[in-house]
Amino acid sequence: YPISLGTRHPLTLVKNEIIDIFARMGFTLYQGPEIDDDQHVFTMLNFAADHPARDMQDTFFVERSNTMDVTKNVLLRSHTSNDEAHYMSTHEPPIRVLCPGRVYRNEAISARAHCFFHQVEGLYVDKNVSFTDLKQVLLTFAREMFGADTKIRLRPSYFPFTEPSVEVDVSCFKCGGKGCNVCKKTGWIEIMGAGMVHPRVLEMSGIDATVYSGFAFGLGQERVAMLRYGINDI
Ligand code: PHE
Repeated sequence: YPISLGTRHPLTLVKNEIIDIFARMGFTLYQGPEIDDDQHVFTMLNFAADHPARDMQDTFFVERSNTMDVTKNVLLRSHTSNDEAHYMSTHEPPIRVLCPGRVYRNEAISARAHCFFHQVEGLYVDKNVSFTDLKQVLLTFAREMFGADTKIRLRPSYFPFTEPSVEVDVSCFKCGGKGCNVCKKTGWIEIMGAGMVHPRVLEMSGIDATVYSGFAFGLGQERVAMLRYGINDI
């Protein structure tokens, strides 16, 4: 029989494209564990001991501590931000790293959500890194990924590990912002969370926050792939 040709999965195509774009801005690759401890997924990212994300509703636990000490739990990571804690506690700045990977959340499966999905985490730590650097890196990424006319919009948000924190929207690349079915008539599409790394998070990983600052972002691969290839069911 002739060997039939396959094609790459949309998630792989999108991931490779994202890696290429950030590689041109000097980001190297790092991959941390999918099965991890509470310490790296939550504690070192400044989640309070009673933060709702630690609850059974969101997180799949592999081992729950039988003491009251939540930091002893072993779990499936609910975001790739654990890679920030791993990388920062084992590397000195300057840090410019990109971490693609699979994440798990105990959510109802629907056309828009699945119990495992993929993120790409970015982390940049150096002297004098400012919010302006974050904005420019994200704008450059958006233009490379979605076209030269793409605009970005930052909305105030909250994550325990970044301050200030933002949700990042890109102008709809289908209608150019006029409003269509892809952007649900808003002209904008949300693609990631981002922010300046909280000084406490730097300190918990052994980085002097009086000398260094940084930014981080977490991008949803499925989101980008679905938009890019017109896929309406995850
Ligand atoms: N980890 C966040 C999430 O999963 C995204 C994020 C990453 C936000 C890095 C800010 C900085 O929703």
